[in-house]
Amino acid sequence: MTNQLAGRKVAITGGARGIGRATAEAFLAEGATVVLGDIDVNLVEQTAAELSKSSGGHATGLGLDVTDPDSFEKFIATAEQDLGGLDVLINNAGIMPTGSFLDEPLAVADRQFAINVRGVIIGSKLAGKRFVAQGSGHIVNIASVAGLIGSPGVATYCATKHAVVGLGSAIYQELEPQGVAVTTICPSFVNTELIAGLAPNWLTKQIAFVEPTDIADAIIDSVVKKYSGQRVVPTTSGLAARMLAPLPERLRNQVSHILGAHSVIGDADQTKRAAYLERAEGAEK
Ligand SMILES: NC(=O)c1ccc[n+]([C@@H]2O[C@H](COP(=O)([O-])OP(=O)(O)OC[C@H]3O[C@@H](n4cnc5c(N)ncnc54)[C@H](O)[C@@H]3O)[C@@H](O)[C@H]2O)c1
Repeated sequence: MTNQLAGRKVAITGGARGIGRATAEAFLAEGATVVLGDIDVNLVEQTAAELSKSSGGHATGLGLDVTDPDSFEKFIATAEQDLGGLDVLINNAGIMPTGSFLDEPLAVADRQFAINVRGVIIGSKLAGKRFVAQGSGHIVNIASVAGLIGSPGVATYCATKHAVVGLGSAIYQELEPQGVAVTTICPSFVNTELIAGLAPNWLTKQIAFVEPTDIADAIIDSVVKKYSGQRVVPTTSGLAARMLAPLPERLRNQVSHILGAHSVIGDADQTKRAAYLERAEGAEK
C-alpha cells in the first residue's frame, strides 16, 4: 500500500469482476475506500467481502442496475452514506456481445445502448451534479479502443463506445472549469470474461492485450494526477490508433486486415464465448 489516495471515496460500477474488481483492489491498495455496484448482486457482495479481507480496507458491494436511474441514485446515495461522501465515480459496467450486425436482435443492440451509453450518462449526471456542488471530484468513464475505430463483429458495441468517447470529450469541457476532472479510458483487449474465445494473432497480442491491473493502474494514475482527457491503454494501441486515424477509411481497413485486427473478433470461438454471451445478453437474447 502506498496510500497515494488515502481517504478518497470511490464508487465503481460493474465492480463484481474483471476491470471493476481489479480497479477496486488498486484503490484499496492506495488507501481509498470503495463501494462496488453490480447487477450480479451475490458476486459483488462476495467480491467486496474478499477485497476488504485481503486489503484490510473498506469495500462494500451493492446491487445496481446502471440502466435504471432510481437504482443508480440509490447506489450513489448509499455509497455516500457508507463512505461519508464521494470523490470518484468510475462508470465501468459494460457488455460486449459479438457477431454479425445483421443477425443481432434489436433487443441486444438496445441492451448495449442501455448499459454502455445510458448507464454512463446517468452516472455522469448523478456524480457530476454532486461534484460541481462540492467543487471537486473525478468521473472516469470506461470506453474502449472500439470507441476510436470500427471493428466488424462488434458494430453496435463500437457505436456505444464512440458515444462514450464523444460524451467524455464534451463533459470534460463543461465540468473541468467547475473543478471536476473527467477521464475517458480506452482499453484495447483486456484479459477478462468479456473477451473469452477471441482469437488474437501474435502481433495483436503484443500491441493490444493487457491485464485488468494495467487498466486499474491507468485509472489510479489519472485520479492521482487529476488528469482530464482520454487515455488509451496500452499506449502501443493508442499509437496504432493515432497512426491509422488520418488514413482514408479504405486504406485504414486494409492495414487493419493485414495486421489481423479484424480476425480477433471475426474468428472468435463462439463455444468459448457462450457463457459470457449468455450472461451479457441476458433475458433480451
Ligand atoms: N475486457 C476488454 O477487453 C475491454 C476492452 C475495452 C473496454 N472494456 C470495457 O471495460 C468495462 C468492463 O469490462 P470487463 O472486461 O471488466 O467486463 P466483465 O464482464 O468482466 O465485467 C463487467 C461487469 O459489469 C456488470 N454489469 C453488466 N450490466 C450491468 C448493469 N446493467 N448494471 C450494473 N452492472 C452491470 C457485469 O455483471 C460485470 O460484473 C466495460 O465497459 C467494457 O466495455 C473492456
